[in-house]
Amino acid sequence: MTNQQTALGPASGSVELHDRWLRVGFGRRGHADFHLRWLRHNCDRDLHPLTHERTVCSSELPDDLRASGAAVIDDALVVRWAHDERESRYPLAWLEEHAYARDRVDVRPPNDAERITIGDRGEGLHATVQRALAIVDLEGAAVVRRAPGVMTPPENETEHLIGAFSTAGLRVIGTHFGRVEDLRTDNTTNENTDQLGYTDAAVDLHTDQPFLEVPPRFQLLQGIRPAESGGDSYLVDARSAAETLKSIDEEAHELLTRTRVRFHRKQKGFEKILDAPILSGEGETFQVRWSYFTVAPYDLPFARMEGWYRAHDRFARLVRDTRNQLRFSLGAGDLVLYDNYRMLHARTAFRGARWLRGVYFDR
Ligand SMILES: [Fe+2]
Repeated sequence: MTNQQTALGPASGSVELHDRWLRVGFGRRGHADFHLRWLRHNCDRDLHPLTHERTVCSSELPDDLRASGAAVIDDALVVRWAHDERESRYPLAWLEEHAYARDRVDVRPPNDAERITIGDRGEGLHATVQRALAIVDLEGAAVVRRAPGVMTPPENETEHLIGAFSTAGLRVIGTHFGRVEDLRTDNTTNENTDQLGYTDAAVDLHTDQPFLEVPPRFQLLQGIRPAESGGDSYLVDARSAAETLKSIDEEAHELLTRTRVRFHRKQKGFEKILDAPILSGEGETFQVRWSYFTVAPYDLPFARMEGWYRAHDRFARLVRDTRNQLRFSLGAGDLVLYDNYRMLHARTAFRGARWLRGVYFDR
């Protein structure tokens, strides 16, 4: 049996094994998805030999049920279970009869950073910026690689960049960090430097300024000086991740759109509190607020706390899964522009004098 992915049996069936579910293909008759829990609950070995009644209750199964392999053999799906090495057998005809998720489409956040990356074609800064903005509209973010051979120090280009984005219809907005934010460990120029961004620590996925009623819509990050090691960037399309969540756990999605949590930013010279849901809107009006370092202790009724954590953590695990992330690093003069209402951003820990510049924009 295979440990992952497709294994073709001698008949027309096929199977793809995922973390918590698997997909059985019925040849030309399409496919159906089954949760591992549902399959093990319906194991052929847990039937009384004489009466064929089920002898197991699903509550007896491990919470984190895993399959170590799955294959189609002789017109039956065979699943091997990780916790007890048992092999369960499900005739394909029986699966078709009981299929509850026929021809389901699996939605996944994109993870190919090349798709959002463009190079300077020598067409001029304004044209490059227009192309980048078109990608941001579609994909939520664009990475622009600096043309090779440019000798200008990137720190001297920041104002040109701001000018080009302004000409293209964006407007610079200042925040409590200042107008242009120098993200470097020795920062002394910006206002309110007591935050993770000005250290060399990892900063995990978040949106910027979720504690503002109207957070900045876009952030431009310009690479000035790369780190000696580490300091890679990554983004997650939270709009797509929200669709994934909705497609696998409607209730969790609903809780994330309905539950207001408190974002509380408290620095030496700045304080702001806002209560808002993590997810709101859809499509063009979608907005995510996500910040593990500014979210206040949850204040929810006792009867809702466990359900809330379950929903929150399901979404968190989706976006923290590296298979759902766009990963890249910014060299000197490279830049990334992302939609702060749609994308989560993060960086890995680093060593050295890494220097990035950040600028916020609105439409
Ligand atoms: Fe940030």
